Amino acid sequence: MPEKYLMHGGDYNPEQWLAMPEILDTDIRRFKEAKINTASVGVFSWSKLEPKEGVYDFAWLEKIIDRLYENGIYVNLATPSGARPHWMADRYPEVLRVNEQRQRNLFGARHNHCLTSPVYREKVRQINTELARRLGGHPGVKLWHISNEYGGECHCPLCQEAFRKWLENKYKTIEALNDSWCTTFWSHTYDSFSQVESPSTLGERSVLALLLDWKRFSSDQTIDFMGQEIAALRAAGSDKPVTTNLMYRFNDIDYFKMAQKLDIASWDSYPEWHRGGQGEWEAAQETAFWHDVIYGLKQKPFLLMESCPGATNWQAVSKLKKPGMVEAASLQSIAHGADGAMYFQLRKSRGSAEKFHGAVIDHYDGNDTRTFQDVCRTGDMLFGIGEVAGSRKKAEAAVIYDWENRWAMENSEGPRNIGLHYQESVEKSHRALRRLGLNVDVVDQNGALDGYRFVAAPMQYLFREGFAQKIREFVAGGGTFVLTYWSGVVDENDRCFLGGRPYGLRDVFGLRAEEIDGLYDQEENRICKGPASCGGQEEETGILEGMQESYRCQYLCELVKPDTATPLMVYGEDFYAGMPALLVNAFGKGKAYYVCADAEQTFYDDLYRGIVRKAGIGVVWEDAALEGVEITVREDAENTYFFAQNFGRQGVRIRIPEGAVLFGPADGHLAPLGGVVVRMKKVEN
Ligand code: GAL
Ligand code: ZN
Repeated sequence: MPEKYLMHGGDYNPEQWLAMPEILDTDIRRFKEAKINTASVGVFSWSKLEPKEGVYDFAWLEKIIDRLYENGIYVNLATPSGARPHWMADRYPEVLRVNEQRQRNLFGARHNHCLTSPVYREKVRQINTELARRLGGHPGVKLWHISNEYGGECHCPLCQEAFRKWLENKYKTIEALNDSWCTTFWSHTYDSFSQVESPSTLGERSVLALLLDWKRFSSDQTIDFMGQEIAALRAAGSDKPVTTNLMYRFNDIDYFKMAQKLDIASWDSYPEWHRGGQGEWEAAQETAFWHDVIYGLKQKPFLLMESCPGATNWQAVSKLKKPGMVEAASLQSIAHGADGAMYFQLRKSRGSAEKFHGAVIDHYDGNDTRTFQDVCRTGDMLFGIGEVAGSRKKAEAAVIYDWENRWAMENSEGPRNIGLHYQESVEKSHRALRRLGLNVDVVDQNGALDGYRFVAAPMQYLFREGFAQKIREFVAGGGTFVLTYWSGVVDENDRCFLGGRPYGLRDVFGLRAEEIDGLYDQEENRICKGPASCGGQEEETGILEGMQESYRCQYLCELVKPDTATPLMVYGEDFYAGMPALLVNAFGKGKAYYVCADAEQTFYDDLYRGIVRKAGIGVVWEDAALEGVEITVREDAENTYFFAQNFGRQGVRIRIPEGAVLFGPADGHLAPLGGVVVRMKKVEN
């Protein structure tokens, strides 16, 4: 294996094939043909590793790891806690989850276990210890794959007790909790912590701060559980790096917090690439956002742990991957900072729920399937660009995406209870910046902003402690900050700030947000260049020049009263026609923009293009504005790597920078799903 390489491989479940040992020979042959260098093993192997309580069998796994290693294939070794064996649930019913209606589940499914249960924690500690002791030192084991896709919550008595302790630890006294949660409302005051119950449709769901703290608790409990899994491996003497595979659009766990316990972030990406005739561009942009979220968790290379080399079997429609899609999806992950592109899974299982899920090796076994050929081409591509491994993705622009904010806002019973579109609003800002070809970081409210010149923070409803101050300093120091409607509304306990919003920033943005209008799905308003536009600030006219006369907006329209801010655009309709819809305020050395409504994508595209060009932020790649084109840059000490891909349905010709073409057409002619990677030497000075 070369010194620098990209991981290529995927989930492998040889425990399903122990009765057919010849399968392993075929698999190894196929792996080599496809330049597969990594297999994630042990992911759901508990019943084979500990068939009876306390009776371990690691011999079969060790043999497989040996064989793979002899053949140049490394292993990501999983802890098996994603699903528990039958004997455990039978003997210790407390390991099974309880739902919000307080009913205990039967055995079945995965992640159907209580992460508080001392029995479950102890069983996991024991098996992780054995695993690390016996196999952790194996030279073929590269990485620990902790559990699999953690998620969900449990409402059992043990979890209720743990939640109460968590609250007591946070608030110390019940009076402080009552005060923070505003429980005088409807006489829901608690007399003691013992009265607190997790949110339930059978009971309390009106004290919204309870809902928020329950989200935090469930997330913390999962992270704590994962921490104990890792501690067991460490205590058994393994110091190999750890990851856990995260999920797309997943809301239950604060991934920024979880990632603090990981050495490497990784995630599972299953876009509906060819959905409803929309083409691949829509899915590519959404996937790009999630790649950037995952990169942002550690601000360093991550892994695409799972992706499907064929059709999935669990989405509404199991669409085949069109030719070129596997390569394009894999390359996109590398472009966004992944050091490996892997699949679920390497061999298709024979029975049970995933027997029709796409896999590198089909039931048929041969190497002449379309999917296998796609994977081979991807293997060649990854091999050819292996030198990019370890290089970083630097960005001067960032968008803020925050889990706690999302939890609070989505439970808030506020201006629209049929969808606030928070996720989409963040993605719009991300897309607008990406269409300039800028690398974009995604950070949460706790993230440092110092390194950036442009930060967009859509819908920051909840302000964490210190967040307002951070924005103030960023703008005062010369940064450009875009904040939108429905920001700075509540504190960390979901209590409305007093004294006007956006909290703590009225002078920075030069305005006060007063009311917010919820629009029905079919309603819309417009953001226009009205008579009030460019109210005198000469330097802003350049930005407005590149903007259309008007843009559509929907869902939420906030009405603000400007103080020192200059309105740049105004509402076009309804009783608030003529009131400001886009404003700018000069503050300190920087600029603070405020967007009042949920505008269509092109509004953000045009606005950000104007701002970024004027302020000379980052390197703008003009071709990124072409429909379907994604441009990303990675770099290390000596080189800059330029990645361009075409997710559009038409071929495009793009200008590629001078350098060595590592992959793709040297003339920059990108067919649909085509891509190019160019190495540019950094100039020595
Ligand atoms: C993932 C999961 C895998 C497999 C895959 C199927 O979410 O981690 O174990 O179930 O989905 O697409
Ligand atoms: Zn529980």
